[in-house]
Amino acid sequence: MTSFIDLDLGKGKDVISKHIYGHFVEHLGRCIYNGLWVGDDSPIPNTRGIRNDIVEALKAIKIPNLRWPGGCFADNYHWKDGIGPREDRPCMVNTDWGHVVENNHFGTHEFMDLCEQLKTEPYICGNVGSGTVQEMQQWVEYMTFDGQSPMANLRKKNGKDEPWKVKFFGVGNENWGCGGHMKAETYAEKYRQYQTYVNNYSGNNILKIACGPSEADYHWTEVIMRECMKETQQLKNSTHDKPIHSVWEYYRPQMWGLSLHYYVRNRLNYTSATKFDESLWFEYMQRTLYMDELITNHSNVMDQYDPDKKVAIIVDEWGSWYEPEPGTHPRFLFQQNTLRDALIAGVTLNIFNNHCDRVKMANIAQLINVLQALILTDGSDMLLTPTYYVFDMYKDHQDSTLIPLDLETRDYLFGDGSIPVVNASASRNQEGKVHITLCNLDPNRSEEITFNLKGENAISSVNARILTDPAMNACNTFEQPDQIKPCNFNDIKVQGNWISIILPAKSVLAIEIAFK
Ligand code: AHR
Repeated sequence: MTSFIDLDLGKGKDVISKHIYGHFVEHLGRCIYNGLWVGDDSPIPNTRGIRNDIVEALKAIKIPNLRWPGGCFADNYHWKDGIGPREDRPCMVNTDWGHVVENNHFGTHEFMDLCEQLKTEPYICGNVGSGTVQEMQQWVEYMTFDGQSPMANLRKKNGKDEPWKVKFFGVGNENWGCGGHMKAETYAEKYRQYQTYVNNYSGNNILKIACGPSEADYHWTEVIMRECMKETQQLKNSTHDKPIHSVWEYYRPQMWGLSLHYYVRNRLNYTSATKFDESLWFEYMQRTLYMDELITNHSNVMDQYDPDKKVAIIVDEWGSWYEPEPGTHPRFLFQQNTLRDALIAGVTLNIFNNHCDRVKMANIAQLINVLQALILTDGSDMLLTPTYYVFDMYKDHQDSTLIPLDLETRDYLFGDGSIPVVNASASRNQEGKVHITLCNLDPNRSEEITFNLKGENAISSVNARILTDPAMNACNTFEQPDQIKPCNFNDIKVQGNWISIILPAKSVLAIEIAFK
């Protein structure tokens, strides 16, 4: 059987925010220390303590934003411990992640330096669980105020005269769990209070993100939306004249986004990242596709309070979660990354693209040496994972216009279950080029796909890259760092505005199409 994809190129209206392709670093295991941060006295080539090879690799995939310092760590983090001369910074216990001693050598200045080196937007997560309103207010003042004030003066004393720009600010992390075990109603009150003091200084314009639900906790979404959108609803219904209206608008609680966390895992039975059979391949593909249902359902709940979709879903933690690699610290969450993870990344990013009217940002967990990492390090060695290559292959979707597609495909059957074989998304960039990304979820059978591209001149060129391997668990190791990487895919037939390909089993493909 052949799968069909119909693309009406005139139909696109929503833009795929580049921030969907965002990342996350936490003070966890070897993500920061012995990962990206080696210190400026390290023999590993670095710029002010940050590894050069990592920065180069990440610049190549145009990472749009970076979330820090957690995760669970964020609600234990007191930012003032991470500024000033490094040798004077106090140590703390990282109670979330293995009770290791955190020396605070990587703090605000180092993170902002990293963002500047990467040319990426910082996404700071503030401490609600164990921090005060004043602490959060002062952190924002420290980073962004351009003038005379206690915090701006402290920043200058620490060597930074000019303020930074901070675009994204999260008010707590997982406050239903590690961030304070709060009820939705309690957190909603806290959000309203804390966000009031996350100020816009000196022309900086912060987009505030509330802690959202875990997985299918629709009650959490309902309560936060209800409690934080009250004034917006009242404003909509109000008959006041313009000036009063705009004062109210200014003082209503601000919520640019509501986060959502979902990991592809079996919480009752974590399994190996590399040793798995087809039943676990199938199960993890099924779990990956569940993201679509979660976004649809949370968005429907949000629609009751925000039908115009002004509040974004920010999936600021997603990815695969397996048992840690044998012999590693169980709380360091270090796992290998295989072709299966490439499919998990490819399918998830397609889902986000297709929901770009509501999903405006996402952050895979995590960038280096933790969970579904893009980069693994071992001393001075570094390797790029299959997940890294998916971000590379998908980068052309960033800030392009989504082209909704009509997809007809067969089912991949396993045991009692079935899932669609082909998963896809498409966009058109400012130069008029169309990019289509496709995943074949069937590990055994290739799939013929025919595309009909309507509403454009004739096709002038088609280029494609593919990521696949004969083994489902193919991965890059320090012995064989190039076992799996994308290569050109030339098996493409073009006739008028019809394209046909045979998509190999268990593969991710990115196609670029130009028109005359
Ligand atoms: O990404 C690892 C952890 O998973 C984060 O710290 C936490 O927010 C989530 O539970």
